[in-house]
Amino acid sequence: MSAQRKDDHVRLAIEQQHVPLGGNQFDEVSFVHHALAGIDRPEVSPAVSVADGIAWPVPIYINAMTGGSVKTGAINRDLATAARETGVPIASGSMHAYFKDPSCADTFRVLRRENPRGFVMANVNATASVADARRAIDLLEADALQIHLNTAQETVMPEGDRSFSSWAPRIEEIAAAVEVPVIVKEVGNGLSRQTVLALADLGVRAADVGGRGGTDFARIENGRREAGEYAFMHGWGQSTAACLLDAQDAGLPVLASGGVRDPLDVARALALGAGAVGSSGGFLRTLLDGGVPALIGQITAWLDQLAALQTMLGARTPADLARCDLLISGSLRDFCADRGIP
Ligand code: FNR
Repeated sequence: MSAQRKDDHVRLAIEQQHVPLGGNQFDEVSFVHHALAGIDRPEVSPAVSVADGIAWPVPIYINAMTGGSVKTGAINRDLATAARETGVPIASGSMHAYFKDPSCADTFRVLRRENPRGFVMANVNATASVADARRAIDLLEADALQIHLNTAQETVMPEGDRSFSSWAPRIEEIAAAVEVPVIVKEVGNGLSRQTVLALADLGVRAADVGGRGGTDFARIENGRREAGEYAFMHGWGQSTAACLLDAQDAGLPVLASGGVRDPLDVARALALGAGAVGSSGGFLRTLLDGGVPALIGQITAWLDQLAALQTMLGARTPADLARCDLLISGSLRDFCADRGIP
């Protein structure tokens, strides 16, 4: 069941890449152009310090996707190869399948085997026990642990969870128990300011806002229902750009993922305060369309083009982009007004 679900997710996520929802609030974020702001390319560095214990050589990462089936094990091998060749951090998909059936361990372990010196994150759900969280970290020799929040996905998923009240205390328990930094992430419906404030109190090290605008898990799960009766849930939640604005000064370092399409979206997310920026569906599409060389080519180009943008904008580091002047327009501006964001 679990392996079949993983393969379904890949198939339906790729369908979405070919027929996107349309509408991405990153389009409502633009940089004010200052024609004399530019610096010299050799001054630009890609390194980021995201949070205590999370320092990365580059500000882009491959976010959680797969593992648990033969097919997704092969995808993990290829993603890990691209991570190794480009230096980007990488996360596994949910390791719930491994807890239920340890015979699929290799489909996750390949992330470390192919990428022995890279930054690797294990991924579990918020019902995992402390013992399972430790098993996940151990299997991957993980440098950090992601815990995903996905109430909208569970709600639409036919076999989904219907009990969510234990999630916050479990996150707190895991964060206190494990040796590596814990990052809590959404899967594409976004984290509100209220949630980020709550996570800060639970002892996690960073929050990945995982907002709307890219892969839509409500739509994926509805696609797994014969009658598709949950179409009203498509597009649930807040966009990544909105979440970043909402989470400003909430007391927890934030990462951005969800609907990041190109190096300009990466720069926009960094300018909105993200410590680093992740992509899942888009990188998966590149990999499945063109293989490992295509994904290495895309990530290399994104890093190079981001450095070019930093040079023009006068940002020596990705973190310096947060000092750039931005224009916020349209529905994102309305969101800021409604939420009292200056
Ligand atoms: C995901 N995502 C995900 N997230 C997670 O925390 N655990 C998981 O197991 C998975 N599985 C998964 C499978 C596939 C095929 C995709 C495309 C995505 C969610 C992912 O990490 C990310 O939060 C969202 O996909 C939004 O980012 P993009 O795809 O819009 O860049």
